[in-house]
Amino acid sequence: MTGIRLADIDATALQQHVDALGQIGREDDLLFRPVYSPQWLQARDQLRAWMENARLETRVDAVGNLIGRLDGGTEPETVLTGSHIDTVRDAGRYDGALGVLGGIAAAEAIQRSGLRLRRPIEVVALCEEEGSRFAAAAYWGTRAILGEIAADEADRILDDAGVTIGAAMRGVGLDPEGIPAAVRNDIAAFIELHIEQGRVLENAGVDVGIVRAITGLKQLLATISGEADHAGTTPMGIRRDALAGAAEAFIDFERLAKEAGEDAVVTVGQLTLKPNASNVVPETVHFSIDIRVPDQRRLNSLTDAVCAALQQIAARRGLTCTVRTVESQAPAILDRHVQDVIGQAAATVGASSISIVSGAGHDSQAFARRVATGMIFTPSRRGLSHNPAEFTSPEQVVRAAGVLARTLAALASGDVITKATKEHV
Ligand code: HGY
Ligand code: MN
Ligand code: MN
Repeated sequence: MTGIRLADIDATALQQHVDALGQIGREDDLLFRPVYSPQWLQARDQLRAWMENARLETRVDAVGNLIGRLDGGTEPETVLTGSHIDTVRDAGRYDGALGVLGGIAAAEAIQRSGLRLRRPIEVVALCEEEGSRFAAAAYWGTRAILGEIAADEADRILDDAGVTIGAAMRGVGLDPEGIPAAVRNDIAAFIELHIEQGRVLENAGVDVGIVRAITGLKQLLATISGEADHAGTTPMGIRRDALAGAAEAFIDFERLAKEAGEDAVVTVGQLTLKPNASNVVPETVHFSIDIRVPDQRRLNSLTDAVCAALQQIAARRGLTCTVRTVESQAPAILDRHVQDVIGQAAATVGASSISIVSGAGHDSQAFARRVATGMIFTPSRRGLSHNPAEFTSPEQVVRAAGVLARTLAALASGDVITKATKEHV
C-alpha cells in the first residue's frame, strides 16, 4: 500500500512556497513571469533550490524545463508530474505554480514514507505553457519533450518586441540547436495538479476534480481594414470604420458561441487600433479570437461560423478582413486508468471528487497525445483565474497535494502503466 497520508504533506512549507513564488515577477503588485525573462529565471532557480532541499536530483533540459528526480526502482519508465511557471499578465499565484510546488511536496512525502518504488518520479517546471510572451509557442516545454518542435520554430516565432524564441533562449544560456535533446521516450504517465479556474467544484462543494477531458481550442489573429477619415467631417453613411465593423462582429461572436452550446466559448482578449486617435475614424483593428469547444467537429464549425461572420460584415461595410490561426489544440481525452487511480487516491485521503471537463488548456492536453495522462483539479474561489484575486484555500492545497502524492505513489509502485482505451467526453 502506498500509505501516504495528508499529514505527510508539509503543509506549512507548501503554503510558504506558494506565497513566495507568487512574489517572484511581481511589479506594482501585478504578477507577470514571461518565459526566458529574468523573473522567470529567478523563479526557476528558487524552485531548483526547493527541489534540492526536498532531496530531488535536479537538472535543466535543452529548452529550460527544470526537472527534480526522485530515484526509484529498476523499471526504466518515469512517472512525471508538474506544470508551468510562466504566467499570463496580471496573473494569480496558483495557475501552473501549484502543479510544480504540489509535485515537490508530494515527492518529498513519498520519499519520507520510505515506500519502495518500482519506477522513478520526476517533477517538472515546464516552459511557456501560456504563450503569453510567444503566442505561437504555447506548450513549448511540453512540445520539446514530445519531439513536436519543428526545426524552424526557434527562429520563426517572435514575441511582441520582435525577439525570436531562439534568441530569448540564447539570452538565458540555452542553445536552440540543442532542442532535439529535450525529447523523451521514457515517460510512463504524466499527472498534473492544477487549480480548476472555474466554478464547478466550488458550486458542487467538492474537493477534487478528476479531469476526463480538456477542451479543444483555436487562437486566431484577425485584421480588419477600412479607411482613416476625419471624425468631424465624415458623414456616418460613407465611413469605412474598421472598429465599428469589429464591434458588430464581436456581438455576432457572442450570439454564435451561445448558439453553439453551454460548453462553447469565444473571447476577444487582445485588440490594437490604428491610428488610435479620438478625432480619426479607425483605419485598422488587429484582435485575437480565442474559440473553445470540447468536441473537434463543433470547434471547427464554430470557427467557420466566426470567420464567415467576419467576412460578411466586412463586405457589407466596404472593409477588408484577414484571419490567421496562431494556435490550434485538439480536445484531449484523459486516461481512464489514471482517472481511476486519482479517484482511489482521493477516496483514501477522504477528499470528495467528481469527474470534470476542463475549459482551460493545459500541458496535459499535449502529453495526452503520447502518454497516459491525468489531471487533478482543486477549487478556485469564485472560479476566478487569470486574475490577481485567484485563490485556493491552504486546506484545499494540502488536500490536492495529498491526492497527488497517493496517485504518484500508486503509479510509481504499481504494475506497468499502459495508455488505457479512449473515453468519450
Ligand atoms: O488559456 C488557457 O486555457 C491556459 O491558461 N493556457
Ligand atoms: Mn493559465
Ligand atoms: Mn495553467
